[in-house]
Amino acid sequence: MSIIIKNEAEIEKMRIVGRLAADVLDMIAPHVVPGVTTNQLNDLCHNFIVDVQQAIPSPLNYRGFPKSICTSINHQVCHGIPSEKKLKSGDIINIDITVFKDGFHGDTSMMFCVGTVSAHAQRLCDIARESLFLGIEQIKSGTTLGDIGNAIQTHAEKNRYSVVQDYCGHGIGRDFHEEPQVLHYGVPGDGLALEAGMIITIEPMINQGKHHTKSLGDGWTVVTKDHSLSAQYEHTILVTENGYEILTLRAAERTN
Ligand code: MF3
Ligand code: CO
Ligand code: CO
Repeated sequence: MSIIIKNEAEIEKMRIVGRLAADVLDMIAPHVVPGVTTNQLNDLCHNFIVDVQQAIPSPLNYRGFPKSICTSINHQVCHGIPSEKKLKSGDIINIDITVFKDGFHGDTSMMFCVGTVSAHAQRLCDIARESLFLGIEQIKSGTTLGDIGNAIQTHAEKNRYSVVQDYCGHGIGRDFHEEPQVLHYGVPGDGLALEAGMIITIEPMINQGKHHTKSLGDGWTVVTKDHSLSAQYEHTILVTENGYEILTLRAAERTN
């Protein structure tokens, strides 16, 4: 078990690639409308990452993943593969962007509402985002992974949602997925204590129904077993002595 502590030069590269990943979400936002296909969204992101950012989309060919982004619609939990399927009004979709540049990966995702969505779908997305930030707000040197997981789980369950247990956040840096595994449920004080210089993702998947998932025959797409809606948000975060720095803030989330 070895968790990499990043030095200042590595942290600066993570800030840059984190910003690039966030910029892709800002770029794609106006294109997430009824009638667009997830392949079109994939191609827009791919070309922006390669041509404008001069970077590499990490998912492409990662363990055989065939596309450059993940697009997970409605009851799809994560790792959805872009296709010729058209988005329609009322869909909720997670777009998950991971960018590789100058030796480092930055990973972030968010929900988009397509056209007009139901109040219950909107609420699920709101609670998923709030759960992510409640987890993030736990972070400082000495916080345990159980503290983070518990904050997320408590908020989701208070709202009568469930937390996916089959997938988790992760360390990130020179590798897309590093140690540790960051569970989105747990008991305060349990598990590893974070140290300044660690960089992790938190990416809770929150279900309207039960937490159980299954994988589709394409080998990637994960869906809720009961076909209830699922929502996810993800940030890449640096642990500091007294708190944290979110490396993947989008323009609307930044204060400077
Ligand atoms: N971006 C996802 C994560 O948050 C991983 C996607 S792996 C892929 O960890 F191969 F599906 F792209
Ligand atoms: Co991730
Ligand atoms: Co991701």
